[in-house]
Amino acid sequence: MPSRPDFVSRALQRKPIAADENTGLRRTLGLPAVIALGVGAIVGAGLFSLTGIAAADYAGPAVILSLLLAAIVCGLTGLCYGEMAAMIPSAGSAYAYTYASLGQLMAWIIGWDLLLEYAVAGGTVAVSWSSYLQSLLHGFGIDLPRAIAKAPAAGGLIDLPASCIVGLLTCLLLAGVRESAVVNAVIVVIKVAVILVLVGLGAFYVEARNYHPFIPDNTGAFGHFGWSGVLRGAGIVFFAYLGFDAVTTTAAETENPERAMPLGIIGALGICTALYIAFAVVLTGVVNYQQMHGDAAPVATAIDRTPFAWLQIVVKLGIILGFTSVILVGLLGQGRIMFAMAQDRMLPPVFGKLHAARRTPWMAHLVMMAMCGLLAGFVPVEALGKMTSVGTLLAFAIVCGAVLVLRIREPDRPRPFRVPGSPVTPLLGIASCLLMILSLPWETWLRLAVWFALGLLVYALYSGRRASASLAEARRS
Ligand code: ALA
Repeated sequence: MPSRPDFVSRALQRKPIAADENTGLRRTLGLPAVIALGVGAIVGAGLFSLTGIAAADYAGPAVILSLLLAAIVCGLTGLCYGEMAAMIPSAGSAYAYTYASLGQLMAWIIGWDLLLEYAVAGGTVAVSWSSYLQSLLHGFGIDLPRAIAKAPAAGGLIDLPASCIVGLLTCLLLAGVRESAVVNAVIVVIKVAVILVLVGLGAFYVEARNYHPFIPDNTGAFGHFGWSGVLRGAGIVFFAYLGFDAVTTTAAETENPERAMPLGIIGALGICTALYIAFAVVLTGVVNYQQMHGDAAPVATAIDRTPFAWLQIVVKLGIILGFTSVILVGLLGQGRIMFAMAQDRMLPPVFGKLHAARRTPWMAHLVMMAMCGLLAGFVPVEALGKMTSVGTLLAFAIVCGAVLVLRIREPDRPRPFRVPGSPVTPLLGIASCLLMILSLPWETWLRLAVWFALGLLVYALYSGRRASASLAEARRS
């Protein structure tokens, strides 16, 4: 009989594991759990909604190439995250790498930036989770009263399902990291199965003529088909790969992070790339890209071309589960970053408190639950959600830069994993992230500037002084 993954056995046996003497967190996650957390954070609704849009409006069947290109761009950054996480296996992820390479102020800026990104992303995904759940329930003839189904701006009083999912998942996180990892692994297995079923059944309805022309001729405008369309398509589907960075926030709770971090990130990205490409091959093979134009739900159209109407429900279920693990791993990462910042005294030490038995940063999780839950329940966050990419891309660029800085500044520091092809790989990572940032609308810049201004004020009045005093004290003792 094949042996169970180690972390599942432990969770079932509830075997006690000693807390790490530096952080107090417990190292309970093995490589399979780390890969599952990566897939959990990456596969959301992006695949289902964006692949069709990118094929219909920009790339045609060559959306397959767009997906490959986006995977390569994420891979460049993923390798850089791998080197940093293996070298500095801290819960703070990009915040901690920036502290080690670019100093306190930059670290604060990235930490502050990530807290907002995770909160807004969590809130936004929770609202989408709620609307898919309501649509699924509607299919069964169940409708929630409007007052508890929508935020005030959308005509209700509160989006209760959205707030509830944030609360529920926070409870799971408070129960422990290995409990959360087990639930995540179960969700991941189901959502991967949904994609495989779609691909497997859809493959019988593929028509080869739909792949011709594979790269439709450019219409004369940049980005509308042709190779420039493949590029623009890559920019669109890039979102579907986001989330792999959250894996690194579990570095302090992972056994053998030197090996598990790089393998976890690359493994998760590899699995997702293979799934995404198989999905795109079938989607563009079943429905001609020209017929997807103006179609809000190309996946639903593709399913209508098969006799399997029940797949519509399966897809909704897959998307709801996809959202669930994206929120779960996002909340997990956010709590760990806040914990790391509090340990460095950048934030009040109370946020660095661990639960005595569960060894989870419970105060950080409760604060994040309040932020995300309130956003999800009362604010029309969809518009804000579109703006989350800028902060993530900024963190990506800085992590690639941190690899270069530390290679120069501390060349002899042990590096269990080295980015292949440095400095070209990190430089390409920085360039691709900056290009993507430049292509984002100006409102995203404005929002980031306002949040940074607020962050600098907090740094000047509190965090900078506290963190410096704590560092000086640590050096003296
Ligand atoms: N990668 C995540 C998704 O596709 C954010 O929803």
